[in-house]
Amino acid sequence: MTSAFDRRNWLAEVVIEEMVPDDLDEVMAIEHRSFPCAWSRCSYERELRNRNSHYFVARHRAEIVGYVGMWALSAECHITTLAVHPERRRRGLGGRLLRHLIDFTQERGATQVTLEVRERNDAARQLYRGFGFEERGLLPRYYGDTGENGVVMCKVLRVAGGREAAD
Ligand SMILES: CC(C)(COP(=O)(O)OP(=O)(O)OC[C@H]1O[C@@H](n2cnc3c(N)ncnc32)[C@H](O)[C@@H]1OP(=O)(O)O)[C@@H](O)C(=O)NCCC(=O)NCCS
Repeated sequence: MTSAFDRRNWLAEVVIEEMVPDDLDEVMAIEHRSFPCAWSRCSYERELRNRNSHYFVARHRAEIVGYVGMWALSAECHITTLAVHPERRRRGLGGRLLRHLIDFTQERGATQVTLEVRERNDAARQLYRGFGFEERGLLPRYYGDTGENGVVMCKVLRVAGGREAAD
């Protein structure tokens, strides 16, 4: 798959659904290939029981190809995770999952979305910047596994006619 046309067609077949415990085998496989310090299965099980958490998977036909999660903290949505299957990246799915989360949280009254990202994670920082996230601060040596700095990013949701103005 190389052309923009193929990528668009592929993305059009992706559906986003709430994550359920049966999804966790596939989610954990992507998790281990995506993060230097993967969350445990137990952490995901706990998250799925937390009423302030919301997790979604992206499914292409039968295969889970990505996921995203957040905590709803009053008027703030805090993104806890976002990952796309390593062989399915650069097809627009990361953006699609992010868009889904922003729309979902805005419909529930959130006015800002926050997250932390590794300083050297250029792919994610670029993705978030493209969605209008601003870098608000540095968390020195925030990631214990590598000692890497964390970057705090924030997007204020502007309300225009009940919806965020288009990016
Ligand atoms: C970050 C991640 C979710 C992006 O997913 P994706 O499906 O590849 O992203 P998209 O195809 O929607 O990319 C959207 C934009 O993000 C930026 N981007 C994505 N990957 C990039 C890369 N490797 N290098 C530079 N920019 C990149 C580009 O601006 C891209 O737009 P373009 O393709 O038109 O140039 C994916 O790389 C991933 O799962 N990484 C490992 C887990 C991770 O780091 N998660 C973030 C935790 S905060």
